[in-house]
Amino acid sequence: MISVFGSDIGDQEIEAAVECLRSQWLGFGKKVDDFEKAFASHLNLTNCLMVDSGSNALYMAVRLLDLAPDDEIIIPSFTWVSCAQAVLLAGHQPIFCDVDPTTMNVRREDIEPCISPRTKAIMVVHYAGLPVTMEPILDLGYPVIEDAAHAVSATHNGKPCGGIGDIGIYSFDAIKNLTAGEAGAITAQREEHIERARWLRYCGIGKSGFETATGSKSQDAWWEYEIREAFIKMLPTNIAAAIATVQLRRLAELQDRRKQIWAAYDKGLADIPQICLPKKSLQGDTHGLFTYCIRTPKRNVLAKTLLDADIYTTLRYHPLHMNPLYGQTSKRLPHCEQLNQDALSIPLHPRLSDDDVDHVIQAIHNFADRHF
Ligand SMILES: Cc1ncc(COP(=O)(O)O)c(C=O)c1O
Repeated sequence: MISVFGSDIGDQEIEAAVECLRSQWLGFGKKVDDFEKAFASHLNLTNCLMVDSGSNALYMAVRLLDLAPDDEIIIPSFTWVSCAQAVLLAGHQPIFCDVDPTTMNVRREDIEPCISPRTKAIMVVHYAGLPVTMEPILDLGYPVIEDAAHAVSATHNGKPCGGIGDIGIYSFDAIKNLTAGEAGAITAQREEHIERARWLRYCGIGKSGFETATGSKSQDAWWEYEIREAFIKMLPTNIAAAIATVQLRRLAELQDRRKQIWAAYDKGLADIPQICLPKKSLQGDTHGLFTYCIRTPKRNVLAKTLLDADIYTTLRYHPLHMNPLYGQTSKRLPHCEQLNQDALSIPLHPRLSDDDVDHVIQAIHNFADRHF
């Protein structure tokens, strides 16, 4: 089966994980520190804090804004569930907005109709790794959380996606362009946000017993600690950080392979007018190349035909406003609803062989010959 998503773990990642196991320091430790420094410097971020998932990084981001109960955060409906869950779990209201059907990204004009006196922040998502045009959204004057889960090496106007808004988050889960198995990261314009996040991620404890004991030899009763805020544990492991550090070193190579596959799809599918190919990034921007999402009126039949040809595809994402949990099913977001009918992510990951890619292109052509 050719899978839609996948990681590329090589000998170097395996050795890094084994070395970590041999060191007997499996949990949170120095490797996390090393990764944070390397990631920040690689992406030209002012700071970076690693946590145990992108979902938790989103929750952290919302909590750092210190909003009041029932304040509203506007988020695109066409995104992963963690975006809305983070808002809800923090005690606020997610308000879903539409997206541009051609870029699948949120625009200022999608956000504006959702603004109310209770709007206190905006969350944007660089869908598939295509940079959102950030400036008109920042100009609205609300704090902006940037979900760069798909956009670990994307740039917009010379800045790294995730490092443009007030707070940015990344995901290093098993299928992301840079994987640690499970992990994430957060960055912020304001250093004090990251300083606070640093202790929040350890159950809200100001200083651990170990830090106290080793930091000041004169301190008695180092096992006592100050719990500053109620918070969950989000510590990443040394094993995850060791794997992520190798992936970061290999990121350019991994992205190059994605770029080759992307170009092969662009070329191989260009002559089927009923298949709409993903939008390119603006001149000067860099696409993150997370998922290759096509649009076609016969999406369901195509997906089933590809599955029969051993090619697994999927829809990212079922629009959130259509889920009864959030109480907004009567809202009409026509572009998201249209994407729900005709969008499909086809296989894209660095371990696909040229033969796999040819097989996908050929299978789509066979389908087009029969159905269009
Ligand atoms: C847009 C988006 N945001 C956030 C996340 C959450 O990241 P994680 O899986 O690391 O929790 C994902 C994961 O798929 C995502 O696609």
